[in-house]
Amino acid sequence: MIIKECYLLQKICPSILSADFAELAKDANRMADAGADMLHVDIMDGQFVPNISLGLPVLECLNKKCDLPMDVHLMIVRPQDYIQRFAKAGADIITFHVESDCNPLECIQQIKACGCKAGISIKPNTPVMEIKPYLALVDMVLVMTVEPGFGGQSFMQDMMGKVYELRSICPDLDIEVDGGINHETAKIVTEAGANVLVAGSYLFGAEDASAAIASLRY
Ligand code: DX5
Ligand code: ZN
Repeated sequence: MIIKECYLLQKICPSILSADFAELAKDANRMADAGADMLHVDIMDGQFVPNISLGLPVLECLNKKCDLPMDVHLMIVRPQDYIQRFAKAGADIITFHVESDCNPLECIQQIKACGCKAGISIKPNTPVMEIKPYLALVDMVLVMTVEPGFGGQSFMQDMMGKVYELRSICPDLDIEVDGGINHETAKIVTEAGANVLVAGSYLFGAEDASAAIASLRY
């Protein structure tokens, strides 16, 4: 299935994990000017993943200086404890991991009660079956195409079976992929049915950000 022929909008989301953290607003706006649709904000707590990125005050400041919708990817052990605060700090979409220590149903309800869109994510070893009960309730599913934790890893093509399966079950749902996305892999994920593409190192490492963003659109 090629999403281009479908009515779902394709969205390109630069992941700020690969930005210059001392120049975050400048880098985020560089991506906005280059045609990005959302900004992907990776939140890591050093426990759910073996890395620490940034937190609430940074999102709050960034949101004041950048008009892009904030696509917040929570890679934290207890997402439920922080949903309201991330919403208040400016998140537009809040995505949590089904593998985290949470009640997924309550998480989704809390995210929506805050006025945000709700996303649910699966790591590479987690099957679609784990999130099936929640598919009708969420606005987006995030299929990780690397082990979460770090930018610049290699794309896992064997995750495409999950994207294809999800697209078959949910023709209208935003399906996001995250990890190892570049010009070549964007074609693969789009053909499998993904329409929301996160890219960190590929976009922030590009000399011409507009051309790089355009190169992900199929
Ligand atoms: C990894 C993060 C990604 C990461 C992607 O855990 O969730 O958003 O920044 O980086 P690239 O595009 O470089 O693989
Ligand atoms: Zn991410």
